[in-house]
Amino acid sequence: MGRRSGDAQGHRRGLIRAVAGSSDKDSDSLRLATKLVQGGRRPEWTGDPRLGGGVVNPPVWRASTILYDNIADLKARGHATHDKLYYGRRGTPTVWALADALTEMEPGAEGTLLYPSGVAANSAGLLALLSPGDHLLMVDSAYEPTRAFCNGMLARLGVETTYYDPLVGGGIGDLIRPETKLIFLESPGSLTFEVQDIPAITAIARARGVLTMLDNTWATPLLFPALAHGVDVTMMSLTKYVGGHSDAMMGSLTATRAVWPKLRSASYQLGQAVSPDDCALMLRGLRTLDVRMQRHGESGLAVANWLAARPEVGRVLHPALPGDRGHAIWARDFTGTSGLFGFTLQGVDEAARTRFIDSLTHFGIGFSWGGYESLVVPSDPASIRTAAAWTEADPLVRLSIGLEDAADLIADLERGFAAMAG
Ligand SMILES: Cc1ncc(COP(=O)(O)O)c(C=O)c1O
Repeated sequence: MGRRSGDAQGHRRGLIRAVAGSSDKDSDSLRLATKLVQGGRRPEWTGDPRLGGGVVNPPVWRASTILYDNIADLKARGHATHDKLYYGRRGTPTVWALADALTEMEPGAEGTLLYPSGVAANSAGLLALLSPGDHLLMVDSAYEPTRAFCNGMLARLGVETTYYDPLVGGGIGDLIRPETKLIFLESPGSLTFEVQDIPAITAIARARGVLTMLDNTWATPLLFPALAHGVDVTMMSLTKYVGGHSDAMMGSLTATRAVWPKLRSASYQLGQAVSPDDCALMLRGLRTLDVRMQRHGESGLAVANWLAARPEVGRVLHPALPGDRGHAIWARDFTGTSGLFGFTLQGVDEAARTRFIDSLTHFGIGFSWGGYESLVVPSDPASIRTAAAWTEADPLVRLSIGLEDAADLIADLERGFAAMAG
């Protein structure tokens, strides 16, 4: 699924000529916003010479059964193909187009595998790279179901997990054992938004022969090119910003050439497959990711700055704010910000937080973030931290800032503070 090949480079050049009117520019030199528009639109997936032309988007190819011309054709396809029709589970051009586009966004990537959810992608990656007796270093601020997989299935299979402080930086070296095979990162962390020193960690991991895997859902490759920072496998919940419309679920793993065969083989063994209809939705989302991220980021910062000046607010957990403890590393490594962050309500109890959240009218109460609409949820990280305790007594709130006008969102939050006090 979605593997980079010399052949593909040729097709991409053809596409660029067709779409952008340029001559023989290599797609690797293009900027990300351009790649988002062009990625995966190979002529053989968007055009049929018998019809005399092509269409803009790869059509939805639904298939379980693939028909062969004859037995020689059946034998020639072989089991190992990934961008030739072989069996429905191995994908069709709609699926390959999405995988291809995601691979193109990540310089240094060999290919991308797609999964029915972000959780499925994380679990498949961990299963592919770890064996009984191995040791895993897992960031303490990982998304809760990632922890649940380590404490549940990985523990049952004899993989030991040590949780580490997200701010460990170069100190990760002290935690590596002879049997450590993988360091898992998520930056900024779920709920508490710690920014990890990924270049320091990946440099040590590479020197010690340990693989690294990153949950890059918050930033996407637009804001943080993971492989360029030394990460071996980068994961995204496409459900969030890539889909962007709160109506489809999917996850992806994009990997270096060294790790790719292991991931692909494990995914095939696990029978992971995604719907071409959902891939078409993800491709639609991908085309506008750059402009949406700019708006999410700008509006998020406007709201975060406004909150930081409010007496009702204790701390704003947003790495793009200069006062945030992760700001220096964020400014060094990231090219922008998304719209997801948290803040504490100073000196109030949980009932006040409930009054605040319940009174908001422009923020839906919901978990799966990254859509066009703003969301709010209460967050309680204390019970899911074991290496870096969450000691804030004040209640925490998480906001996902959507594409509404930030002024309307701020007015809503102001009404919320009034309701909280009243
Ligand atoms: C950081 C992060 N990773 C992974 C996931 C899981 O993604 P999905 O909902 O697609 O399974 C989420 C979902 O909220 C998330 O926030």
